[in-house]
Amino acid sequence: MARPFHLGWFTHFGPDEWDAPFASAGGSPWDGAFHTDLARALERACFDLVLLEDSLAVSAEAGGTRELLLRTGVRAPRHDPAPLSALLAAATQHLGVVTTLSTLLYPPFLLARLVSTLDSLSGGRTGWNIVTSTDDAEARNAGLPALPDRDERYAAAQEHVDVVTALLDSWDPDAVVMDRATHTYADHTRVRAVDAPGPRHPVAGPLTTVRSPQGRPVYCQAGGSPTGRAFAARNADLVLAVANGPAAMKAARDDVRRLAAEAGRDPDALRVLFLVAPVLGETEGEARAALARSAAHPTALATTLAKFSAYTGVDLTALDLDAPLPPPAQLLAGSARGSLGTLAKFAQVDDEGRPSTKPLRELAADAGTNSSLDLVGTPEQVADQLEAAAEEVGGDGFLVTTPFHRLSRHYVVQVTEGLVPVLQRRGLVRSRYTAATLRGHLTEF
Ligand SMILES: Cc1cc2nc3c(=O)[nH]c(=O)nc-3n(C[C@H](O)[C@H](O)[C@H](O)COP(=O)(O)O)c2cc1C
Repeated sequence: MARPFHLGWFTHFGPDEWDAPFASAGGSPWDGAFHTDLARALERACFDLVLLEDSLAVSAEAGGTRELLLRTGVRAPRHDPAPLSALLAAATQHLGVVTTLSTLLYPPFLLARLVSTLDSLSGGRTGWNIVTSTDDAEARNAGLPALPDRDERYAAAQEHVDVVTALLDSWDPDAVVMDRATHTYADHTRVRAVDAPGPRHPVAGPLTTVRSPQGRPVYCQAGGSPTGRAFAARNADLVLAVANGPAAMKAARDDVRRLAAEAGRDPDALRVLFLVAPVLGETEGEARAALARSAAHPTALATTLAKFSAYTGVDLTALDLDAPLPPPAQLLAGSARGSLGTLAKFAQVDDEGRPSTKPLRELAADAGTNSSLDLVGTPEQVADQLEAAAEEVGGDGFLVTTPFHRLSRHYVVQVTEGLVPVLQRRGLVRSRYTAATLRGHLTEF
């Protein structure tokens, strides 16, 4: 039997599946109630965490216009995940809540103060998804003319993370003494300035906030390029990855663990979760029919092209739908934008880095689920596949997301009350929480 694995849920503060037969009655997600229900369902199913994705612009990568993204509602509109994460933490007792904050847009001081406060509010259940942003429109919202190139982005991100970490460490764990005899709240000798702020972020410190329960919230990262992976290996407690099938998943996990060892870290301190999007039904036929219905949805192709244009920085809407994709390196030649890892997954590159010869139309249909594994079937069948993949990959777990971009309570119930109980009966996932913090959940097994 595979050792137990971890479960996270990947979503964002955006619309739910508002135009589907099982759309939520309320209609609007903006008061946070929909996501609160999601968080409670995930906690009942003993998930480790929910991760709130973010982007800081309404991208026009698809065809040079914002129309597709706004019409389909997949990446815009979206609200700020940080306040939502406070709401979700208040609505739960155990679930980890990870919020995405870009090193491009947030000054380290404000970011450190924010994640420290969230970690205190949640009693130590906060994570920071460290992203460097991938879109010129995001850079322009940060006051830059264009996105810096990938190496500069990651170099700046490294300095940013080092400063955030130094700020989080600027309060010793025992700095708050609350000594009634001397009327001393905090011992000033245990609160210090930042020693060596980098040239891009000359921050003095100390932080205004007291040390939070985890001290340092859980650091998450999802870079898929060689530079991105090296950055994740050096900094992340939790690596989020997407790959094509078990062999590629194993290669990606082995690689990031090797890079972590090279950076002087214990590879076992890292958890690597792979994005999966199960399509479930009471019978396999029902699941396959649901997948076919989603794929045939009138906006399915447009949605996938718009979303992956924004993710990858390549205008997929300008390419011939009936021809194969050029190699990713050629597509991104000279471009600072986009996620190489996500593009490689979309293009279904093989071990030698060659893209699939499938036409774009077919790649887009496959990418509709954006899953590391093809998971279509009954809860038992999907559990079989997850168990086998976890065994083959040596995997730490899975980050569940929604097939075909949409999220409904109906889908949440299928996973949390269909799939997860099967995994629990097999002893493959947690049936109760034993730790108090997110880092505790992730290091429990
Ligand atoms: C599962 C997953 C989740 C991600 N979430 C976000 C996100 O919320 N916001 C964002 O700007 N980038 C996100 N990214 C992009 C990465 O953080 C990274 O910036 C991007 O992949 C570019 O780096 P790369 O070229 O090294 O892959 C995500 C990537 C993956 C695979």
